[in-house]
Parts: sequence; C-alpha cells; structure tokens
Amino acid sequence: MKICHTIEEMRAVCRASRDRGKRLGFVPTMGALHAGHLSLVQAAAAACDVVAASIFVNPLQFGPAEDFLKYPRSFDRDRSLLEGQGVEILFAPSAEEMYPPGAITWVTVEGLTDKLDGLFRPGHFRGVTTVVAKLFHVVEPDAAFFGQKDAAQLAILRRMVSDLNFPVEIVACPVVREPDGLAMSSRNAYLNPEERKQSLVLHRALTRVKNLFQSGVRDTEKLLAAGLQALAEENSVRLDYLEIIDPNTLDPLRTAAKGALVAVAAHVGATRLIDNLWL
Ligand code: PAJ
Repeated sequence: MKICHTIEEMRAVCRASRDRGKRLGFVPTMGALHAGHLSLVQAAAAACDVVAASIFVNPLQFGPAEDFLKYPRSFDRDRSLLEGQGVEILFAPSAEEMYPPGAITWVTVEGLTDKLDGLFRPGHFRGVTTVVAKLFHVVEPDAAFFGQKDAAQLAILRRMVSDLNFPVEIVACPVVREPDGLAMSSRNAYLNPEERKQSLVLHRALTRVKNLFQSGVRDTEKLLAAGLQALAEENSVRLDYLEIIDPNTLDPLRTAAKGALVAVAAHVGATRLIDNLWL
C-alpha cells in the first residue's frame, strides 16, 4: 500500500493509476476504523480496480466545543486494516497540508446544511463539503463510497456533486451495526459500559417506528410519538431530533411512505450518536 502525505504525491499516484485504465474507487474517512468503514472499502473493491482511502480528522467540521482534540486516532491500526482489505493507496495529510494558512474558500450546499445535524452542529456540513470537494480534486475518483449511517451527509454530498458537476459516482452503503443493533461509530469508543447499554435506545426507537409503519400506520405524528415514547424510557438520553424525512431533501414528511427515512440524533452522556432506518 502506497501512503501519501502530500497533495502533490497523492494526485500523482492516483493519476498514474487512472492512466493505466484502472477504475478508481475512493473511501474518505477520519480514521478510528471499524467494520462500517471496512464495508465501504469492500464495496469499493467489488466495484473498482483500485481502491484509495483517506484518513484525515478534518478540523473544519468540528465546532469549537466539539471533540476534535479527543477524536480517536489510531493510524498504525487503521493502516494495517486498510492494507488487509486490499487498499492500494492511502492519503493521510496533515492539517497544514490540507489548509495552508490564508485559505478562505468554502463549499456550502445552502439550505440542506441547516437541517437535521446541521441545525445542531452549525458549520459542520460546510466543513464536510469543503474537505470532500478538496479530496475529490486530489484523488479524482471514478466512484466514492459513503455510509448511509450519515444520511444528511450523504444527501448533501450528492447535491454538491450534482450542482458542481463533479465527475464522480456517489455510492451509498448500508449501516453496519453491532450484534445488538447499535450502529457502529468511531465515537462509540467514548461510551462507558452504562452508556453503552443506554445507547441501544436509539435503534430501539427507530425499530418501533419502523414496526408501526409496517403495521400500516402512515401518519408521521403517530409514528414519531411511538419513537419518542421509546426514547423517554431511557431518561439519561438527551434527544436532538427524531424525524421522518425525505432522504434527498431532508425535509420532514407528514405522511410516511416506503423509501422515507426515520432518523435520530441524541446525546448519551457526553457522546452524540446518530442513526437511521429506511421505512
Ligand atoms: P467518518 O465518520 O470516519 O466516516 C467515514 C465513512 O464511513 C462515512 O461515509 C460514514 O458514513 C461511513 N460510516 C461510518 N459508520 C458507519 C456504519 N456504521 N456503517 C456504514 N458506514 C459507516 O464521515 C466522515 O468520516 C467525514 O465526515 C468525512 C466524509 C470523511 C469527511 O471528513
């Protein structure tokens, strides 16, 4: 596996691979890898000839009171996991390499970025779109792989790619869960054993909504009430949102339909977790 720390080197290695006629798949990450990340790598390997990944804890997408400094970093472990999955090119730039002093340009997907998590994490999504736009320019992938777990991120990146004509196919991959239902996340490492148990309420609430939907209920007020009731059973969990949304516009729906998404974000202790299910 070739590891590149500079933009110039990464650009040259990716370009050389594409010049050999290889279809290049790209998996951007912030490291602290788990089976969710590796499922994206596997999807990329199945659809492409060469897989490139990146590990970059992007300071631009963390708010001033958020966990940038304590975000888990495990480069050596991550590197061998990626190598084990057949990743051929790894980009691991420094913050200075990505954001030299004086950079003043942002990529903002207006409208979508202040819904769901954007409402609770102001500035988060413009940090995501700015770094992903930069990564796309460096890697120039044919396809890029993202997790459905971050549903708002996925919708926003799809819109950025479409509005700005990036020549890249965005591929969404299903949420990978722990055996008890908790969506895998690098932030799960913050949970103490008590919080780890409490965190199951997110998936439980989503499942209750989905079950009710499958029993024929379409009124989202009723569906959400069932989810909120489930969440209230764990009184130490603080809710940011529980919504039934259109996965493209992220707008809340009055009437649920197949293909809608029920999405939740909540704090378990000091840890903010998100999850969603397709209805
Ligand atoms: P990170 O949280 O490291 O996630 C990297 C990718 O892994 C994202 O596409 C995310 O949706 C996916 N992922 C995380 N948990 C998953 C799970 N349980 N199942 C399936 N996929 C999962 O998302 C980011 O980093 C950053 O915002 C990034 C896009 C890299 C830009 O900085």
